[in-house]
Amino acid sequence: YRSVRVAVLGAGTVGSQVAAVLLERREELARRIGADIELVGVAVRRLDAPRDRELPRELLTTDAESLVLRADIVIELMGGIEPAKSLIERAIDGGADVVTGNKALIAAHGTELFERAERVGAAVYYEAAVAAAIPIIRPLRESLAGDNVTRILAIVNGSTNFILDRMHRFGDSAEAAQATALELGYLEADPTLDVEGYDAAQKAAILASLAFHTEIPADAVYREGITSVTADQVESARQAGYVIKLLAIVEKAVDADGAAGVSVRVYPALLNADHPLASVHGGNNAVFVEAEMAGPLMFYGAGAGGQETASAVLGDTVSAARRHVAGGPGIASSTHAELPVLPIGLVRTRY
Ligand code: NDP
Ligand code: HSE
Repeated sequence: YRSVRVAVLGAGTVGSQVAAVLLERREELARRIGADIELVGVAVRRLDAPRDRELPRELLTTDAESLVLRADIVIELMGGIEPAKSLIERAIDGGADVVTGNKALIAAHGTELFERAERVGAAVYYEAAVAAAIPIIRPLRESLAGDNVTRILAIVNGSTNFILDRMHRFGDSAEAAQATALELGYLEADPTLDVEGYDAAQKAAILASLAFHTEIPADAVYREGITSVTADQVESARQAGYVIKLLAIVEKAVDADGAAGVSVRVYPALLNADHPLASVHGGNNAVFVEAEMAGPLMFYGAGAGGQETASAVLGDTVSAARRHVAGGPGIASSTHAELPVLPIGLVRTRY
């Protein structure tokens, strides 16, 4: 086999799983790819931190800057904007393909990174950035590229879905449910990103950009989190036949002057209890896509968790490795500003 060198940046909830599986399944992956995946190193902040999956000490390094230059594929699982962005840029400039689960980075700087990669014939893969284990980036970017998406209705944050679900079904307090979500590895390093809806807004922006072939920044997304949702509201909704869910809504719309654009919003919405999204429990996500020709499509599965997210990251890694071996072209970014984001007032739709 030819050898493809892979570096992992971050060995937390997701990164430690990815690195461990790359080591455990090395032979199996080599058969599937037709090339050997050599894990050349794993960058961390603290060499002695406890990890979900133990990794050989000799693979750990605090020198991420040097590590990225030793790899053909760099898997970024540190999170946050910096130093993740600079390290990814360094990897791309050095000719490596990049796999990341970092929605904050892709939502804020995706287009810039995709263009940088395209210039050198590299590719950026980010299937894990939205809805963790659920394949949704590829379907939007590739499978539906010839159709016209008209609307996406989605639950894209696993931890807030977990919290609201525990409140709804078991009467848990928001605090107790959040503590369990933390134990399960669902929350971001800064949980405010989850409970205030920033994480869902970043994912909504990524989905909207792909679905409508345009560039939607996360800060253009109308956003409300779940911190103001009370146990009484959840119970009242339940008694009235509704479920409160943090929904991401992306749809074609027109402004007051009739100009076409995209409306992207995230807020706790009342869903009829028999709506398909109402039965999305725990840390699961679901993305309900409506397209002109395909009609309605539902993507459902685990929206958070180390092993589940590692599945998507490893899928991207296999794709990148196959591309590396075949010497294929980079992946077109598909964002070229077709439609603007419309400023949306407080539209409270009951779905
Ligand atoms: P964690 O906080 O669990 O892990 C982050 C890792 O990055 C840690 O190992 C940490 O090192 C390392 N790290 C952070 N900063 C640096 C730095 N400056 N230099 C070197 N190493 C650094 O994050 P997760 O694994 O939960 O998430 C990783 C990414 O995946 C994020 O972008 C997240 O949004 C995304 N994601 C997470 C999901 C989940 O369910 N957890 C699901 C989908 C996406 P150390 O261990 O030494 O502190
Ligand atoms: N914190 C995120 C969530 C992880 O709860 O959905 C998955 O992106």
